[in-house]
Amino acid sequence: MSLSHIQTKFASISRSRAQHPEGRPRLRADNIPLAYGYPFPGSFPIDQLISSTSRALEREGTRALQYGGGPSVRDLRALLTRRLKGRGMNVADHQVMVTTGSNQAIDLIAKLFLEKGDRVLVEGPTFFAALRIFESYETEIYGMPLDSQGLDTDYLAEWLEKERVAGKLSPKLFYAIPNYQNPTGTTLPVCRREKFLALASEYDFIILEDDAYGELYFDSPPPPTLRSMDTEGRVVYTSTFSKIVAPGVRLGWAVGVPEVIAGMAALKTDGGTGPLAQAIVYHYCEGNSLDERIAWLRMQYRERWGAMREALIDHMPHDAAFTEPQGGFFTWLTIPGVDTSATYKEAVESGVTYVEGRSFFPDDRGQESMRLCFSYCDGALIKEGIKRLAEVVKKHKG
Ligand SMILES: Cc1ncc(COP(=O)(O)O)c(C=O)c1O
Repeated sequence: MSLSHIQTKFASISRSRAQHPEGRPRLRADNIPLAYGYPFPGSFPIDQLISSTSRALEREGTRALQYGGGPSVRDLRALLTRRLKGRGMNVADHQVMVTTGSNQAIDLIAKLFLEKGDRVLVEGPTFFAALRIFESYETEIYGMPLDSQGLDTDYLAEWLEKERVAGKLSPKLFYAIPNYQNPTGTTLPVCRREKFLALASEYDFIILEDDAYGELYFDSPPPPTLRSMDTEGRVVYTSTFSKIVAPGVRLGWAVGVPEVIAGMAALKTDGGTGPLAQAIVYHYCEGNSLDERIAWLRMQYRERWGAMREALIDHMPHDAAFTEPQGGFFTWLTIPGVDTSATYKEAVESGVTYVEGRSFFPDDRGQESMRLCFSYCDGALIKEGIKRLAEVVKKHKG
């Protein structure tokens, strides 16, 4: 597709991603979005956030509006440190950094460690925004396969050894989402976590553990985080308020050894993570039970997944396969013989959207798969969306 005049002046890395402003097909007014991983709007605690905004401004006055912010910037970090301890991560406050969403944490970690030509490993498939971040540092990205239990650590071990024997450069960093992975919804069992950490130690790479969904399990908590099992300080951990409070607050956090957090701080040139947002979220957490809210969210998402699962069984072709998440927002649907990029336009015309499997790989895989998200629509809409989608898919199966 030809670029507009101004797009031809973009830096080469941005030019390769630029799309003509015409963009994607128009959505129907009654479109059912099973595409993006948004929390459902009814989950946002509006009234409580209004009162916490007032409390933040009454108690901290102009300090909450100044560069650097007031006391709640420090207090929010301390609150996070306490919550991390509750999940087995014994860290000091100076090992935690609050960032503008966990996307910024991923970007800062990439900036700290990665340079042109470095080898980065990811789960194949993985969170597309992280792929874009690693690409922007001109790294070589390799997608390691997953099965129903997440990362295939046996495959990883063989791959690492083969590369070593071939004299290839060791990977510097592995970006992983062990809990309710985006996009597959899979969770890594504890024995694979142990093996993964042992491989990181043997082949000397950093693990960037993204735990955006770890607290949103349906029935029982996931295994311990890699960060809590790490005895060498090689796991840098990130998570976010986006899924447990609201994405609009744009607050996430990173946890690592002091050198890593200090290194990230030195690269953080944005004038500081929004102090007003930090004050609001701190006062929200102080005045309300975040744990109760999270328990309620778990029930909501479990119900929505139940609706999607039922509809997939009822409507999809018999050879279609989907993952069985135990938490989070996503399932990964694979339909043999159907190219999900080719069906996208028709799905949009039928009033349903999903994310094409290809978007989640650093290479050309994922053609017959798609990510479906059950966090945004209610059960009835999800069922209707899957019905619409199944009709499109069945036409393409011939
Ligand atoms: C795995 C994963 N990591 C990070 C993020 C980004 O979250 P944030 O809103 O904190 O930047 C998302 C959001 O979709 C995600 O799915």
